[in-house]
Amino acid sequence: MQGITLLVEDNDELAKFYRLNLKVWVGADVCRASTIKEVEVFLQKNKNIDLIISKAAFTPVVKKLLDADNSREISHIDIGSRNFDGETIENGLEIKPLLQASAKALGVTAKDMAQMVVPDYFPLELLYFATIKEPVCPIYSCNDGEYVLVFRPDEDIDRQRLVELKKSGHESLFVEKNDRLKLVTNLTQEIVTKIKPEALNPAEVLSASEMTQQLLQFKLRRIGITPETAELAKANIKNMVAASRKFPKLSKLMARLLKNKSSYLYKHSQVLMFVCSHLMDHIDWGNEEQKKTINFVAFFHDIALENAEQAQIHTEAQLKESKLSKPEKELVNKHAQIAAELVVKFPHAPMGADTIIRQHHGISHGVGFSDSYGGNLSPMSVVFILAEDFVDHLISSGTDLNIESKIKQMRSRYSTQRFQKIIDILETVAL
Ligand SMILES: [Fe+2]
Ligand SMILES: [Fe+2]
Repeated sequence: MQGITLLVEDNDELAKFYRLNLKVWVGADVCRASTIKEVEVFLQKNKNIDLIISKAAFTPVVKKLLDADNSREISHIDIGSRNFDGETIENGLEIKPLLQASAKALGVTAKDMAQMVVPDYFPLELLYFATIKEPVCPIYSCNDGEYVLVFRPDEDIDRQRLVELKKSGHESLFVEKNDRLKLVTNLTQEIVTKIKPEALNPAEVLSASEMTQQLLQFKLRRIGITPETAELAKANIKNMVAASRKFPKLSKLMARLLKNKSSYLYKHSQVLMFVCSHLMDHIDWGNEEQKKTINFVAFFHDIALENAEQAQIHTEAQLKESKLSKPEKELVNKHAQIAAELVVKFPHAPMGADTIIRQHHGISHGVGFSDSYGGNLSPMSVVFILAEDFVDHLISSGTDLNIESKIKQMRSRYSTQRFQKIIDILETVAL
């Protein structure tokens, strides 16, 4: 019989994030303390504690409490400390290491996890449903052993109904067994979008932005631009710009993204923001307004693409030779146009952002790829095209950043004066 896990975390959203994932993936029953006083009381009251997970700010005191108590053996995992000489998880939002460490501490093996018996209707605490606007699958309540549909997918969750369910004693709601992972992924992303970046370390900020970008992409496909998706996008662009400022050097940002095992699409946008901001700071006609515009473009230009394979196509020839299916090829061919049309509907989108997005593969109507870049491209489009070529090189070189040969290649490829001037600035980006 598994004992209790105590989570010491004062941020409500982070606590929800950990509890949900520990429950679903490790089967851990997690109680929470948000102050040291609560930890002390909990330790006195409960004898069957197996594990304590504490955030960095609480870790030293929790360790002291545990060291002082030699009557029992409690495992201790820290999240985010720099110099804790015990089990420590650097990035709490990268959930896998935390789950693995917790499973080990609780004596749950991979085999146990795989063999965990999942009931046909899987329970999730009611409070999680308050974090989402509409569910991605049908949600049931259990009335005397019978499962009754309470919320349909794609319909707004009626808050009043949630309150009534709670009042009539429902602690949990249920999803069909096969829907549970889809729902948990969605809930996890939704919870993460509500965590303020101030509560996170730089590594976690990047993970949070990535999850938000994925959630946004999923929502845009389902419901398009709405006040909700627009808010989410604005907040995430702000977080991503702030995140890239936390890394004074490109190599540091790249190393972190690599460690986070970030997806290509996310990495691509995040590094583009770093490089575009640098260019806008140093171009003689650059200003804050344009910096905003280009960061908006960096976020949205490939939003219609679904995976790294699609996003790594930059020429007609690559598209032709790729093993993508016909609909996928069609999508890649038109992705600039699709994204531009989406952005036009965005309330108060930066002026001209749709044009740059449309032109980001060198074709003014946004369908296909060009090898030669005509004089009809706007100056901002030129900046973006160069930044993108440069960033693709950086991402494919991994940790071994060497820009000399890339700059040389770019100088011969883009030979006109207006391109050369921008390449001069690219050369000065702090590696
Ligand atoms: Fe791109
Ligand atoms: Fe693209």
